Amino acid sequence: MNSIEKLIQEIKKDIKENPSKLFGFLYPYILVVGLGVGVFYLYNINKVEEQTIPPAVPSSNQAEDLPLILPSESMSSDISSLTTPTDDLVNKGKTLFNASCAACHGADGKGDGAAAAALTPKPRNFTSNEGWINGPKLSGIYKTLSEGIPGSAMVAFDNLSPADKFALAHYIRKTFVPDAPQVTPDEISAMVQTFHLGENQKNPGQIPIKDAMQLVINDNQARYENILSTLNNISKDSQPGAQIFNRVTNNKIEALTTLSATNDWHKSEQTFVDIIVNNINQDGFNGKVYDMSKADWNTFYSYMNKYF
Ligand code: HEC
Repeated sequence: MNSIEKLIQEIKKDIKENPSKLFGFLYPYILVVGLGVGVFYLYNINKVEEQTIPPAVPSSNQAEDLPLILPSESMSSDISSLTTPTDDLVNKGKTLFNASCAACHGADGKGDGAAAAALTPKPRNFTSNEGWINGPKLSGIYKTLSEGIPGSAMVAFDNLSPADKFALAHYIRKTFVPDAPQVTPDEISAMVQTFHLGENQKNPGQIPIKDAMQLVINDNQARYENILSTLNNISKDSQPGAQIFNRVTNNKIEALTTLSATNDWHKSEQTFVDIIVNNINQDGFNGKVYDMSKADWNTFYSYMNKYF
């Protein structure tokens, strides 16, 4: 084996033992590729502006990663309770709008968000009745959010629940659209049929990109699903073991990644303690592990053994 092969072997081993190192290794490449894309973008900025779909959407909060969303199945919603613009729905819609839509549509709904300049066609100005494709009725906005507008930067927002989509539609209609037209009972029935609103909805879940990368490098899919379902189970559980887990972790996915990366800790509780404590703050666990009693460790150890 020549020295390069050896080095590669060592790096692989290193990454296996400590997945977060991958970022160290990849960082220079990411930097170079990132710079390349940036330079290319600047050189082509005029062309880019003419295109219908820009290759990159400048966002005011680029540094933020995707939030963690656990996979879930929402019960078939009682449609009549969602078609009425209650204060709760409108307020929820406002929060969602500012987080996911204002970058393009602007906080005032005029289609002048930070990213709008680079887009053709421009994001809809909700305060005008002109130019709508699916229209500002409840059913029209619901359709837009479910299917997107092809050929534009308006994509389908697949991971929003039906309740979230209704909340957004109510907020937009109530706050921005002048004399927003009402949906008819027939249009509501059509919507229930088209979007299967009478059935249970599955949300596949979403995890932050940086955690996804960490998971992708090892056993990929199976491990990813195992970690997500473990996380899901723990989050629903109120047993002492689950409470300890919630207390002593900063980054739950990273913590579960640490534990799923090796089987060594199944041999002894001491190994379990060592794995967690030796890399504290980088392995998803936090300093509160130092406050744990022997009994806490016992409980926590047998609890985690259930999952891996
Ligand atoms: C990346 C930019 C972008 C984001 C983010 C975005 N939109 Fe849009 N949106 C657009 C563009 C561009 C159009 C216009 C499409 C066209 O005219 O073909 C549009 C159009 C719309 C329309 C009008 C559809 C019609 O009937 O003409 C609605 C309603 C809408 N968006 C709602 C939302 C909501 C709600 C969100 C947040 C969940 C959102 N958009 C996020 C870019 C965006």
